[in-house]
Amino acid sequence: MAGLPPSFIQEVRNRTSIVSVVAQSVKLKRRGNEYWGCCPFHHEKTPSFSVSDERDYYHCFGCGAHGNVFEFIQHTMGMSFLEAVEYLARQAGMDIPRATAQDYERERKKNGIYEALETACKFFEGQLQKPVGRQGLYYLQRRGLSEEIIKRFRLGFSAPGNALKAHLIREGFNEETLVESGLIMKPDNGESSYDYFRNRVMFPIADKRGKVIAFGGRVLDNGEPKYLNSPDTPVFSKGDNLYALHLSGEQARKMQEIIVVEGYMDVIAMAAAGITRAVAPLGTAMTERQIQLLWRYAPEPLCCFDGDGAGQRAATRAADRVLPLLKPGYSLRFITLPDDLDPDEYIKEHGKSSFENFLQTQNRPLFKQLWQMLLVNRSLDTPERKAKLGKDIEECLEKIKDPAVKNFYRQEFKTALWEITSPYQNKNKEKHTYSSFGKRPFSEKINHPSLYAERDETRMLLAYLMLYPDVGSDFSEDLAEWNTPSEYQNEMLHILVDVLATDPDMTADRLKEYLQSTARSEFYDFLSAEIEMVNRKNPLPQEARSNIALLIRGMRRKALRSEIHSLAEKIAVADENEAKELWEKYQNLLKEEKELA
Ligand code: UTP
Ligand code: MN
Repeated sequence: MAGLPPSFIQEVRNRTSIVSVVAQSVKLKRRGNEYWGCCPFHHEKTPSFSVSDERDYYHCFGCGAHGNVFEFIQHTMGMSFLEAVEYLARQAGMDIPRATAQDYERERKKNGIYEALETACKFFEGQLQKPVGRQGLYYLQRRGLSEEIIKRFRLGFSAPGNALKAHLIREGFNEETLVESGLIMKPDNGESSYDYFRNRVMFPIADKRGKVIAFGGRVLDNGEPKYLNSPDTPVFSKGDNLYALHLSGEQARKMQEIIVVEGYMDVIAMAAAGITRAVAPLGTAMTERQIQLLWRYAPEPLCCFDGDGAGQRAATRAADRVLPLLKPGYSLRFITLPDDLDPDEYIKEHGKSSFENFLQTQNRPLFKQLWQMLLVNRSLDTPERKAKLGKDIEECLEKIKDPAVKNFYRQEFKTALWEITSPYQNKNKEKHTYSSFGKRPFSEKINHPSLYAERDETRMLLAYLMLYPDVGSDFSEDLAEWNTPSEYQNEMLHILVDVLATDPDMTADRLKEYLQSTARSEFYDFLSAEIEMVNRKNPLPQEARSNIALLIRGMRRKALRSEIHSLAEKIAVADENEAKELWEKYQNLLKEEKELA
């Protein structure tokens, strides 16, 4: 989809009054040239939110939220920038610029490239099954891949020589298309073109709908480069795509968990072990666009990078890059594999269920990752060194743009810093010099409860129901009506609720037996982190009861939030009359949300 010309965006802004746009959702009062109201971005009773047409800007003196009219629409209605521009353009009665003849020509070219890539993919797949591809097939078999996995990932083989070029020309593609698709190279010196991939095992790279857009090719021996990737083309830019997203996306959405690993083979080895929610960047560090893409599948993608130096540098870069993008509810989590293993090797060595368990229990939130990064190779034995840490923390905070998130990070850093620098806290602890990642179990050192405070409410609730079924049964009527956004968790919830409703005196042990007998013991693996957390707290039944009540309230609030969002989306495409009606509903939901808070 093409962007909009800057002149058009400017024109939309010129024709739009930010005050009247804000007034559609916030009650405003005039004071001089400015208008004031209660901030829609945080809860307040007295107005500290100001808008002015003169400055063409809004600003909240309470929470610091500020921006132009596009940002206001983006944040209140959950739209992208382009959607906000189009929405306001429609309100201003402007026509959205249509695609030009040039766009059509570009589109036609792209289609040719897609066709060439798909034909090449089929050709490589076929080659793998022929005598010419035997070495490639042996290689994949040696790495433990079944026929089924080879098919699922459409793995193939590129022969030496120019077999692909010959095949595609025979199929009627012209040379220009093949060069543009990155499949053959044309030297500048006028010599004839040749196959880009030769004598490699081929990994097709697809877009999120499964259309082939590029290839990665792995050598069979120790040649260089180990993986050769397609150059960027009109249909492929590495930083915009993730390997295997078309195969893993659905499961990721369902489980609300997506795992980012470093390599193609890691994704494939995990799929072979039944873990089908992994993707990988394409031979580069994770980009901003890839992070945004991941967030469409799950709010806290888990970065699972190798334990070696390269893997940890990748984690550091990802942690650094996500800071400006952070927003409430959206982040990254991190996990480091032990002994320099990659996921492929870990599964071969320790098995699938050990890996799942490792993923569920050993991951840490971004904050912990940052804190760990800040402490590496640093000693804090002088005031100057402590002050330097303070300065580096400040620098890290500066990168966070979202005011609310930034605020909480500041608090969290303060606590962590206090814990580590306060002489009273450290009496019995070793000197804080952290030599390398992962070697020292971080959680034993700085063990502030707030660091553990965040897990998804639904998952925590499920863990409580499994450990305190008799307490949970009191809520079964309430919960029977409830639906969670994740299909899988919803299924769990209703299985549990049904059992608890029929047997209110159920014990945790009997529940376990029951789940085992109905082949549902995977629930315990899925929730192992939460179960461990609840077990560690070991609450009394009445504490469990109030925690369950709190969690249900939290879930209600979240559901309301998402209802508010989808309503905003509807408003965006509604006609004027409809929109007016929906606005009213929107306001009511906001009110309801405030009451729940
Ligand atoms: P690794 O060298 O760790 O490879 O590179 P790997 O995934 O373990 O590969 P196997 O198991 O030996 O087959 C990690 C990832 O970095 C990219 C690839 O995506 C690779 O999977 N890479 C690596 C390249 O793009 N080009 C290279 O030359 C090397
Ligand atoms: Mn590997």
